[in-house]
Amino acid sequence: MSDKKLTTASGCPVAHNQNVMTAGPRGPQLLQDVWFLEKLAHFDREVIPERRMHAKGSAAYGKFTVTHDISQYTRAKIFSEIGKETELITRFSTVAGERGAADAERDIRGFAVKFYTEEGNWDLVGNNTPVFFLRDPLKFPDLNHAVKRDPRTNMRSATNNWDFWTSLPEALHQVTIVMSDRGIPATYRHMHGFGSHTFSFINADNERFWVKFHFESQQGIKNLTDAEAEALVGKDRESHQKDLLDSIDNKNFPKWVLKVQVMPEADASKVGYNPFDLTKVWPHGDYPLIEVGVMELNRNPENYFAEVEQAAFNPANIVPGIGFSPDKMLQGRLFSYGDAQRYRLGVNHNHIPVNAAKCPVHSYHRDGAMRTDANYGATIGYEPSSTGEWAEQADFSEPPLDLQGAAAHWDHREDEDYFSQAGALFRLMTPEQQQVLFNNTAASMGDVSVEIKLRHIKHCTAADPAYGAGIRKALGL
Ligand code: HEM
Repeated sequence: MSDKKLTTASGCPVAHNQNVMTAGPRGPQLLQDVWFLEKLAHFDREVIPERRMHAKGSAAYGKFTVTHDISQYTRAKIFSEIGKETELITRFSTVAGERGAADAERDIRGFAVKFYTEEGNWDLVGNNTPVFFLRDPLKFPDLNHAVKRDPRTNMRSATNNWDFWTSLPEALHQVTIVMSDRGIPATYRHMHGFGSHTFSFINADNERFWVKFHFESQQGIKNLTDAEAEALVGKDRESHQKDLLDSIDNKNFPKWVLKVQVMPEADASKVGYNPFDLTKVWPHGDYPLIEVGVMELNRNPENYFAEVEQAAFNPANIVPGIGFSPDKMLQGRLFSYGDAQRYRLGVNHNHIPVNAAKCPVHSYHRDGAMRTDANYGATIGYEPSSTGEWAEQADFSEPPLDLQGAAAHWDHREDEDYFSQAGALFRLMTPEQQQVLFNNTAASMGDVSVEIKLRHIKHCTAADPAYGAGIRKALGL
């Protein structure tokens, strides 16, 4: 008999794990074979909903180390002194593919970091691009319905994809990046990361700054062409997962340098663009990158389901010294992630070890499915109380934010320039990179209708006449 004893979920020895119990060698199975019932019942429930987007991903643990002092901008303890280290987990992902999709697909990549700070978890849930297709969260479900499978054919549809993208002029900047030579990163290690949205910093004097976060890959940038990706996917559908896993197992720890762009609060109304528009970048000439520290990934999870599938990153998780902004996409996300995670993982998902804060948690939230801690024992469940139990911490109030304007469904497409930055990006490309952009776009559009193609050419031409002409030629129009 083995020393490594098989037991039921309640710890009782299992005597038979090879043959079910039957009435005679040919007879039917008996209901009293309770190990069989438990084993099958558990198996039947092993699958949980995948993330609605970003379902395919890879993660690793690591640390963030402060290398430069930015305490003039933020009182966040994570940045309080040079040399300070904070544990973290980072999950990378593709967006449109399902949990079993191939890694090397043309798509943006998710870049989500959970910093386990001493004042709670700070989740920076970004992408490998500084901008996004949209600037209104009301359109986010539409975007996903357009890029995911068609309801009738259950196939991905270039028509749905391009019909939607070309109906939104604000998407051109992001579309240009996805169709460029950077559209298929070779690995998760060889791409930058961005918080993308504008967030806020609050310093010890309670002054507010607007901030954008950038992670610069120290491995350099490496991309795949369509042909390289096609050949790779034919051999290996998990190329990103394998690369990250192997490099960390081989102690080749990937690193990213965290930099920030900082804008004084009052500048927001002075710059010639809306700094809370997620389809735009802030020019580096106006707001240069300020170095902050280094993120290193150095430990692979032991169990993919427990630590990666059950990881819950939520832009609503912020810590004192870091805050939100009027970016309406960010505001929309503040609802969606916790809501999705309560559905996907349950109301107590914050207790799952990968999600649990590494500081005391005193929320008064009680009960709920799968409450596996002591549920705050006998502690009273309300505040204020005469017992002086956990009280709000007014010292952490943010300064008031001035807002203006009447409540309405404002149309942000009117009088807005969605083409200058896409054009500037196009002009930054070498002629070879521009040609790659034309070719990738034509390949991705495939046999979509001429009407949709012309709509895209119109937007590209508005960005730069040479962009429009190149796409027209590549499409043979
Ligand atoms: C995942 C919603 C925009 C980055 C998700 C999930 C939802 C969601 C529901 C799945 C969460 C889960 O089940 O754990 C939205 C909505 C958006 C939006 C409503 C716009 C209004 C964005 C933007 C970015 C982004 C602009 C990047 C800048 C991510 C990432 C993940 C994710 C990286 C995967 C996180 C992980 O690794 O678990 N999003 N999203 N999303 N989203 Fe978004």
